[in-house]
Amino acid sequence: MPLRCKTAILISGTGTNLQAFIDLANDGQLALDLSVVFSNRPDAYGLVRARNAGIATACLEHGKFADRESFDSAVAAELANWKPDLLILAGFMRILSAGFVERYAGRILNIHPALLPLHPGLDTHQRVLDAGDAWHGSTVHFVTKELDAGPGILQGRLAVNPQESAEQLAARVQMIEHQIYPQAANWVASGRVECRDGQTWIDGQLSAEPVVKTF
Ligand code: GRF
Repeated sequence: MPLRCKTAILISGTGTNLQAFIDLANDGQLALDLSVVFSNRPDAYGLVRARNAGIATACLEHGKFADRESFDSAVAAELANWKPDLLILAGFMRILSAGFVERYAGRILNIHPALLPLHPGLDTHQRVLDAGDAWHGSTVHFVTKELDAGPGILQGRLAVNPQESAEQLAARVQMIEHQIYPQAANWVASGRVECRDGQTWIDGQLSAEPVVKTF
């Protein structure tokens, strides 16, 4: 990755993770240039956060495209205007087609609110409570063609309180996300972490497991 890694952040919603990146950038602690924030929803509050921070925005509504491939091609063409080195999915609620993922192979990050490989998919907080899991958290990983299955980089975990609601648990996990996502992105931007042949390498070592931080 180049020294100042040009980055596109893709969102669909409120963008609290996006805000964490913006705040760190304002503090001079981010090794990324936040070039553009892209949304598939024009009403995503994250677009307001981006504009308030003086970051360029772009939006294409997926519903206006015939299929996933044509939407993804349009997104790729739009993003090409900024020549991003890295794509950060921050609550981007669209599954990316294989062609899109290949185009940016090893250069797309996602954060998933569970300790992958546990609980891929939606509604993770309630599923953790229902399963009686002792631990929960969030995982930053490289994106591959399989949903929520790419190699992990960094996990933040906390002990589950069985009395708490899914909403309370979600709020605690989100606080963790705001710390681990920019940290993992900084590692990738600085070259400390890379994805090679679908696996994570950290400091030149193949890493079968993500780094785990307990909060
Ligand atoms: C996060 O919880 C993340 O794990 C998931 O989508 C959520 C986005 O939240 N992928 P926000 O829009 O950043 O507040």
